Amino acid sequence: MSYKDEYKRSIETPEAFWAEKAEAVKWFKKPETILSKDENDIYRWFADGEMNTAYLALDYHVETGRGDQDALIYDSPVTNTKQRYTYSELRDEVAKFAGVLKAQGVEKGDRVVIYMPMIAEAVIAMLGVARLGAIHSVVFGGFAPHELAVRIDDAEPKVVVTSSCGIEIAKVIAYKPLLDEAIEKSAHKPDSCIVFQRPEVTATLIEGRDLDWTEAMATAEPADCTPVKATDPLYILYTSGTTGKPKGVVRDNGGHAVALKYSMKAIYNMEPGDVFWAASDVGWVVGHSYIVYGPLLAGCTTVVYEGKPIKTPDAGAFWRVCEEYGAKALFAAPTAFRAIKKEDPDSELLKSYDLSKLETIFMAGERLDPPTYHWTKDTLGKPVIDHWWQTETGWAICGNLTGVEMLEPKPGSSTVPVSGFDIRVLDHEGNELPNGEQGNIAIKLPMPPSCLPTVWGDFERFRTSYLSEFPGYYCSGDGGYKDDDGYVFIMGRTDDVINVAGHRLSTGEMEEIVADHPAVAECAVIGINDPLKGQQPVGLVLLKNGVEIDDAQIESELVAMVRKEIGAVACFRRAIVVQRLPKTRSGKILRKLLRQIADGKEYSIPSTIDDPASLPEIQEIMGRNGLVS
Ligand code: COA
Ligand code: AMP
Repeated sequence: MSYKDEYKRSIETPEAFWAEKAEAVKWFKKPETILSKDENDIYRWFADGEMNTAYLALDYHVETGRGDQDALIYDSPVTNTKQRYTYSELRDEVAKFAGVLKAQGVEKGDRVVIYMPMIAEAVIAMLGVARLGAIHSVVFGGFAPHELAVRIDDAEPKVVVTSSCGIEIAKVIAYKPLLDEAIEKSAHKPDSCIVFQRPEVTATLIEGRDLDWTEAMATAEPADCTPVKATDPLYILYTSGTTGKPKGVVRDNGGHAVALKYSMKAIYNMEPGDVFWAASDVGWVVGHSYIVYGPLLAGCTTVVYEGKPIKTPDAGAFWRVCEEYGAKALFAAPTAFRAIKKEDPDSELLKSYDLSKLETIFMAGERLDPPTYHWTKDTLGKPVIDHWWQTETGWAICGNLTGVEMLEPKPGSSTVPVSGFDIRVLDHEGNELPNGEQGNIAIKLPMPPSCLPTVWGDFERFRTSYLSEFPGYYCSGDGGYKDDDGYVFIMGRTDDVINVAGHRLSTGEMEEIVADHPAVAECAVIGINDPLKGQQPVGLVLLKNGVEIDDAQIESELVAMVRKEIGAVACFRRAIVVQRLPKTRSGKILRKLLRQIADGKEYSIPSTIDDPASLPEIQEIMGRNGLVS
């Protein structure tokens, strides 16, 4: 089958295409309705199908003879620990943990927030929730209590699962005090918290509310898989939008299982029994889809790596893990490879490892810049595949279908649309643009299985964020173009979202925090280019009249505020005082223009600008502060 044939069939006869792919899933009740619309007039896949995702990820493989195969390998250079779980062992742990949750009153449809580092227990917790037909919401460990509180208030979990600590490069971060602070801040209070105690830190448990994971597991009654509808939610994953309030992306069970299982072969060319390693974190969508669900749905072995590409202990860490477990595919963010290249530019460390089993390197999370593409490809001598996706879709929108037909990659492009994604490049009026012209990347509805059907608790926000700008299309928020061969080039966000080290962050949210400082009259936070992390946020602040504060002082106060509210992961380290911000006559800050100045791009002065003299002034200040690339 050629890519062209596969893709054409997925677009021209989507129901037949996905009905066929759904055959690969063991349903409790096979769907008869393949594509339909729900009460909100949103396309849904497999509406009358019944299944359980944890069953498909574990029990199914045990029943079909894969029980003794490794399902999960935990590798933690930061604690010097390695542990393997076969499918049978992981199924048993998950069933027990589901029993622990059940004993805490968790039932189908209830929410459970998981705030954990990269340890096997995080995966066990996710699958335990899924086993009960409940809904998990994992919160990335790098987020501060405020962010966790916002998510607790939105998801209203019955239970929160955490660990006593996470371990970063050379530092231990106690999680429990962060959780306690979050619960103190949140209006919603969970009934109970389950705490996995690690040897590095012993968390203090609050009597009547907190349970010790190990003690609870010791006496737990294993729980069975609860059947759910394909359209029932499997998880909520919060992601940054343009405002301070993150969006709860809802993922359904059935479409997700079908799409992910399909993707493991079609995109990643993985067979059952192969080892797949996504060096991400379960707090991000890549972790959900390709550390946990994708590899397990496909009967592969997944690697849970609690470490970094560098400094744990060195820039050979990725090669060591690939060799040790015989990974066939490695998936990571371009930042990781830039970090390795910086530490070991001549790849001396690579020489001591045998990577003969590694076939392909996949990258996503941010744009794969051509220099990083070439360095990785030349260093490893293997195909490097860029693929573009979003939390909202849960899997790649554009990529190179290596299990169908591998196309010749083009540096800077995430190759071609993946099956089911009908990608169009539109101008602001919604007209399709010719090849080569840059515009808004939109996806014609219906989208394939796994894509979000709503924002948790706020359908209107879903409609206005994604569907109303171009009726009949999903608006991705990314800009880019297609070339004459149909290759797609994603050039960056068209909104206030930035990507720092592959982590999606909202500059709008940072602005809200900066603007809260009593000395700040107005501010703009923009993403500027960063040679390691792709982008980094920078605040341009205008002080209130009459305020006397040293530039360095205000910068350090603002940096501390953003770190406290969002967390270290925001990487907000620069705040520059300016005299004026360029604005339209109606008072809107011209952020796009600021980004163009920072990128060192030619820009035209908009006719709506209020004070054209503000431009050379701000350009000079940004240049002087090293903010122009
Ligand atoms: N829990 C707590 N804190 C965390 C965290 C977590 N899970 N993840 C990151 N942080 C903290 C870091 O310790 C750091 O804190 P600091 O400001 O006190 O030093 C801060 O958040 C910024 O982290 P990061 O941007 O990751 O920078 P770093 O200097 O620690 O590491 C890299 C740099 C390149 C090694 C790292 O960014 C990396 O591995 N990137 C790959 C990206 C990736 O996998 N993305 C996933 C999406 S696919
Ligand atoms: P997230 O939802 O965290 O996965 O972030 C999604 C955003 O990351 C997208 O909207 C893009 O802006 C960016 N992104 C992800 N993958 C790529 C890629 N391969 N090329 C360019 N941008 C990407």
